[in-house]
Amino acid sequence: MDMDTFANKKIAIIGSGHMARALVEGLAKSGKERVSRIVVSNLSGSGLEALQGEFGVQTKTDNTDATRTADWIFIAVKPLTVKSVIEEIAEVTQGKLVISLAAGVTMELLKRYVGINGQRYIRIMPNIPIGCNTGVIGLYADIRVPRPETTAVCSFLRGLGKVIEVQDEKDLDTITLVAGCGPAIVAHCIEMISRYGVLSGLSEEMSRDIALQTFQGTIAYLGKAGLTPRVLEQSVATRGGVTEEILNSMNRLGVDILFHQSLDAGYAKIKALQEKLYGNV
Ligand SMILES: NC(=O)c1ccc[n+]([C@@H]2O[C@H](COP(=O)([O-])OP(=O)(O)OC[C@H]3O[C@@H](n4cnc5c(N)ncnc54)[C@H](OP(=O)(O)O)[C@@H]3O)[C@@H](O)[C@H]2O)c1
Repeated sequence: MDMDTFANKKIAIIGSGHMARALVEGLAKSGKERVSRIVVSNLSGSGLEALQGEFGVQTKTDNTDATRTADWIFIAVKPLTVKSVIEEIAEVTQGKLVISLAAGVTMELLKRYVGINGQRYIRIMPNIPIGCNTGVIGLYADIRVPRPETTAVCSFLRGLGKVIEVQDEKDLDTITLVAGCGPAIVAHCIEMISRYGVLSGLSEEMSRDIALQTFQGTIAYLGKAGLTPRVLEQSVATRGGVTEEILNSMNRLGVDILFHQSLDAGYAKIKALQEKLYGNV
C-alpha cells in the first residue's frame, strides 16, 4: 500500500524535538503536500518556527487544539512527560488512535493514564534515520486496535523505513537498545575509527571520510554479496594477517563482552525509568 493511501489522515505530532523533526523530515521526503496538513504542537513553542519554515507543517502551542481534528496522534515527548500530555488531550482523543514513540512507557501505563476512555494505543520505537527514510521502526499494537488499523499504520510507517511488528511487548525494549540507540552506537564506532586515523597522522577530514566510506562500503558489500557479517569478517581476516591480529586482540581484551555489558546498562536504564513511571501513576 502506498503512503498516499493515507493522504486523508489528519496527523498531529506532540513535541517538536529530535524525533518529531525526523518524523516530519521523513514524511516530507515522501510527499510534501501531505506534510502541510500535519500539525506539530509544543507548549513552549521551541523548534516550531524552524519546522514550519523548512517543511511547511502547521504548528500550535496548544496540544488540545492541535489534536482536536486529528485522526492519528503521535506522542514525541520525553517518557516522563507522556502522562501529562495524555491526560491533557484525553477529552479530544476519545475514539482516536494515539501512537507513542516514548521509550519505556509500557502499554499498561498508557492505558492507566486516563483509564479506558475509548483511546486506542500503538507503541512505536523508531530511530533517527527515519529522517532520511532508512529507519527501523519497532511496533507493538494494543489488542484493542483493530487489525486493519494496525496494518494501515504499518503501511504508513513503511515509507520511513523497515517496520518490525512484535507480538511480545518486551521485544520493544530490545529494539530500543539495538535500533533506537543504535545510530548513536554506530556513530560512536565511526568516530572511534576516525579518531585513530587522526592520532596516527591523518587529517581530521580525511580520516572521517575514510571511516564513513568504510562503513558505507561494508554495508553495501554485505547487501550485494548476500554475505553474513561473520563470513565477511572471515574473508577479510585471512590466516596470519593483520586483521586476524586485530580481531584476536579484541577477543583477548573482551571487547564483545564489554560491548554487550554496555547494552545491558541501557536495559537497566529502561527498567529504572519504568520503575519511576509506575511510581508516578
Ligand atoms: N532521539 C531518538 O533518537 C529517539 C529514538 C527513539 C525514540 N525516541 C523517543 O522519542 C521521544 C522524544 O525524544 P526526542 O529525542 O525527540 O526528545 P527531545 O528532542 O527532548 O524532544 C522532546 C520534545 O517535547 C517537547 N515537550 C516537552 N513537554 C511538552 C509538552 N507538555 N507538550 C508538548 N511538547 C512538549 C520538548 O519541548 P522543549 O524543548 O520546549 O522542552 C521537545 O520539543 C522520547 O520519548 C524518546 O524516548 C527518541
